[in-house]
Amino acid sequence: MNTLMLTTSDEDLARAAELLKGGGLVAFPTETVYGLGANALSERAVKSIFEAKGRPSDNPLIVHIACFEAVLPLVEAVPPAAKLLMDIFWPGPLTIILKKNPVVPDCVTAGLDTVALRMPKNEVALKLLKKCTIPIAAPSANSSGKPSPTLASHVAHDLGGRIDAIVDGGKCSIGLESTVIDMSREVPALLRPGGVTYEQLTEVLGPVERCFECKNGETPRSPGIKYRHYAPRAPLFVVRGNFIEYINENAPKYNKVGVISQVAGEFPENCVVLYLGDRPEEYASNLFAHLRSLDRADIDVIFAQDMDDTGINLATRNRLYKAAGNNVVSSD
Ligand code: TXA
Ligand code: MG
Repeated sequence: MNTLMLTTSDEDLARAAELLKGGGLVAFPTETVYGLGANALSERAVKSIFEAKGRPSDNPLIVHIACFEAVLPLVEAVPPAAKLLMDIFWPGPLTIILKKNPVVPDCVTAGLDTVALRMPKNEVALKLLKKCTIPIAAPSANSSGKPSPTLASHVAHDLGGRIDAIVDGGKCSIGLESTVIDMSREVPALLRPGGVTYEQLTEVLGPVERCFECKNGETPRSPGIKYRHYAPRAPLFVVRGNFIEYINENAPKYNKVGVISQVAGEFPENCVVLYLGDRPEEYASNLFAHLRSLDRADIDVIFAQDMDDTGINLATRNRLYKAAGNNVVSSD
């Protein structure tokens, strides 16, 4: 299949919308990461998402909409607390899980009785969704297991030749996937940290359960939790304690070392050093691209500096630990 590269012009977005309405697969930018879209109401179109990504069929998809009215046919009801979240955080990086209506195909929700919904803030995504007039199911547009794509070139690398088109909208501003909150039960539950922070959610809702870590033996509330994610080819370790000291002590034991650092410093010559940025927002937006660029055969090991878990760092650190398969080393 020849994958069409599209711009964000009105004409190209109309083309993308036609492809989606016809059952095709189109990758498009959002403020979090690129999504791989298909008609959420067509079982056949949705199944082709799973095929293109190599995604396990028990991992449900997020349905994207451009206006509040589009939510109503998809869900049993919108509880007041969920409506409050929509009013405050939509459009934006927040996915809300509610009890679904039968119109949503089982393959979208992996057989669950709930559906995940998001109204993205990115202008291109909103324009495209408006042109489509149908709800669009879209997981992140990477091959299953790889870091989520924050550039059109990442999508082309993973899915080029397997999907109908890619809309190139430049770099995604947030760079990590949306926050996922389950509002289908009595107590709200945070299933994935993201751009809308835990602190922001508890300020609006009061107590919010934290259910984003997979405890041994438990069935996760969000199927996505149990899969190894974002894994680069070389083994990745999160480093606690004095980062520069650790790298200087340990890098000489290897041939070539990848380093993801929040501080500038003197590193041994065999290190490829990628700087994560000056602020937590920059750490978030650079992490996936750095993991991708270190995904090179000649790197033996990657060391990444640990961070705290307040604000957006909760999400960045969650992805970093997943990428590392929870491998942690310490300088002391
Ligand atoms: O920022 C984002 O959310 C991006 C952009 C494209 O919108 N999308 C994205 O989709 O990250 P995906 O498929 O990579 O992640 C969706 C996550 C998965 O962990 C999945 O298990 C969870 O949401 N999920 C979806 N529906 C669910 C449901 N009904 N109950 C529990 N978890 C659900
Ligand atoms: Mg994903």
